[in-house]
Amino acid sequence: MIIIKSPREIELMRKAGAVVAKVFDVVGPMVKPGVSTLTLSKKAEEVIRGAGANPSSKGYGGFPEAICASVNEVLVHGIPSDRKILQDGDIVSLDVTAELNGYQGDACRTYAVGICPEEKLRLVKVTEQCFWNGVSHVKEGVHLGDVEHAIQETAESNGYSTPREYTGHGIGREMHEDPYIPDYGEAGTGPVLREGMTLAIEPMVMMGSNRLRTLKDGWTTLSKDGKPSAHYENTLVVTKDGYEILTKL
Ligand code: MF3
Ligand code: CO
Ligand code: CO
Repeated sequence: MIIIKSPREIELMRKAGAVVAKVFDVVGPMVKPGVSTLTLSKKAEEVIRGAGANPSSKGYGGFPEAICASVNEVLVHGIPSDRKILQDGDIVSLDVTAELNGYQGDACRTYAVGICPEEKLRLVKVTEQCFWNGVSHVKEGVHLGDVEHAIQETAESNGYSTPREYTGHGIGREMHEDPYIPDYGEAGTGPVLREGMTLAIEPMVMMGSNRLRTLKDGWTTLSKDGKPSAHYENTLVVTKDGYEILTKL
């Protein structure tokens, strides 16, 4: 069941979303060669708690840290570690979920570390473009499949792939609500969007094949072929004639 949020709830989600945006404002500039992903997660946690919010990922299904930090071939759910030191030429996605006054905000950015090869920069750029091409379809009355198809088409027309096992999602009181929003789909299919639906749309884009494996830690999910991936996500609310991004300042 897709939960429609009231204007009051949407206002609360704007506030949660602003906390997530603040994290990127503070932590984004810290992404440099030599910094550990744990340092980034600890700073993110400090910003989230400083705003009176909670880092929703910490303890979610047993996830041990405040944010996901996924480097190069890691697609999602990288566990921040003091042993994972960012290197010149890496790309790292930081996926941040925060809860404030009972409502969630969820967003992800992929950063280039130092000087990055052109092909990785292109991957990051196309992943962001997947998001914007997808959400350009969002408004009351549109099928969710239109959004999903635009994401898939943008990725594949650039020679990339998207995963089948991980998806975007509805969001609200819970981090993950209906509907599930794959990074692939068929136009004209799926649920019809209504004003007041709140969605986390999150293209995950892989340079090589979309075959995945998970490390023994039970979380770290990476490409089988070792090729890099990028991830970009925002929480938004569907409106009569479009959408409003909630994970912004
Ligand atoms: N932020 C992720 C998402 O986009 C979920 C976090 S998984 C967790 O859905 F285990 F880290 F919580
Ligand atoms: Co996320
Ligand atoms: Co999400």
